[in-house]
Amino acid sequence: MIKPNPFTPQSGWEPRVFGGREQGLSDFKSGLEAAISVRPNHLVTLGEWGIGKTSLLKQFRRIVQEAGYPACMCSMSRFTKGDKPLDAIYLIAEEMLMGFPKAGLDQERFLGLFSKKKTLLQAQSQFTKFLLELWKTLDAKLAVVMVDDLQNLLPISNTIDILRAVLSKEEVVQNTKFLFVLSSTPAGWSTFLDKHDPVGRFFRKRLNVENLDREDVTRTVGRTLEDTGVEFSEGVKDRVFEYTGGHPYEVQLLSSHLYDGQIEGRVSDESWDNALNNTLKELGRDYFSMLLTKASDREKDLLKILAEEKRPLSIKEFREMMIVGPHAKKFPIANIKNFLYRLEEKGIIIRDQKGSFDIPDRMFREFVLRKENER
Ligand SMILES: Nc1ncnc2c1ncn2[C@@H]1O[C@H](COP(=O)(O)OP(=O)(O)OP(=O)(O)O)[C@@H](O)[C@H]1O
Ligand SMILES: [Mg+2]
Repeated sequence: MIKPNPFTPQSGWEPRVFGGREQGLSDFKSGLEAAISVRPNHLVTLGEWGIGKTSLLKQFRRIVQEAGYPACMCSMSRFTKGDKPLDAIYLIAEEMLMGFPKAGLDQERFLGLFSKKKTLLQAQSQFTKFLLELWKTLDAKLAVVMVDDLQNLLPISNTIDILRAVLSKEEVVQNTKFLFVLSSTPAGWSTFLDKHDPVGRFFRKRLNVENLDREDVTRTVGRTLEDTGVEFSEGVKDRVFEYTGGHPYEVQLLSSHLYDGQIEGRVSDESWDNALNNTLKELGRDYFSMLLTKASDREKDLLKILAEEKRPLSIKEFREMMIVGPHAKKFPIANIKNFLYRLEEKGIIIRDQKGSFDIPDRMFREFVLRKENER
């Protein structure tokens, strides 16, 4: 009997098998010990869309609870300019009350510490009071608070500065032991740092969440398939890595489509094209279409060349290619540099150390090729 699809291609869904990240997990464990014996060193995890930030935080939560300490997870929803930092602080407080497993946390009493007047100073003093009171009730040696998707607070970016101010207050440092673990996109985080300069010096410990390596991917896919009645051929597993570069969301999505294409429990090369098409369609809907619409027509011309050449190209090479060869066309050559820099600014292409440009994600490259052929 073939089991239901074991892959989890959805934002925030914990994978059935959590792959890689050994170093990050073991650093986190040492961080916990240091937090108990010395002091909490708050941590910021940084990573792009779908790279596995939420799953990693959930893994951290498990480690903390296994070690016998309370942990909670606060997911930040998207705030707008019209909101106040106190709204966000209040949400964090609420999530902390709901997330800590301690029985008898009197929600009304704790949330009563927040008044409706939403001034900055009050957000700060009220959250301080909240942490001090909560700490007494928690009766723990350490409590860990995960705040996921901090970039959603960008429109009210001073929230993060309030968090910093509260956590560095003498009375909080002396009387409590909360360890905060934040997650954000790298761009979001650097905007916080630009706007609120002391934040970077306070939240100094960073963890970059990156793609899984080949071995992690093969092992994770293999173990996810255990006892399902379905097998991927070695060639297919290799290609999963080659196409996704180990991006966890892409791995889950592609593997999920491959799984659906099994024939008598086997997934081999014949199932590939269909699964890839479906994956690209979904990635387009989720993200790539939005990314591509950010590029102007001229910029798309350059993107197409990168996609077809499948290698990093220098500005000089772009110029030459516009003049002779298969890519040659009428084009404002003097502006190539500007177009490329703009594509980089929009996060569509990257520039390597040598100054050459490339499409960072093979799946996006495949997507561009397909879209360009339709253009
Ligand atoms: N270490 C891992 N091993 C295997 N699969 C993973 C791993 N981490 C995440 N995934 C899978 O990748 C996908 C994205 O994970 P997750 O939602 O944690 O990422 P994220 O960075 O929080 O994404 P978002 O940008 O949507 O917030 C999910 O399908 C999840 O199951
Ligand atoms: Mg997430």
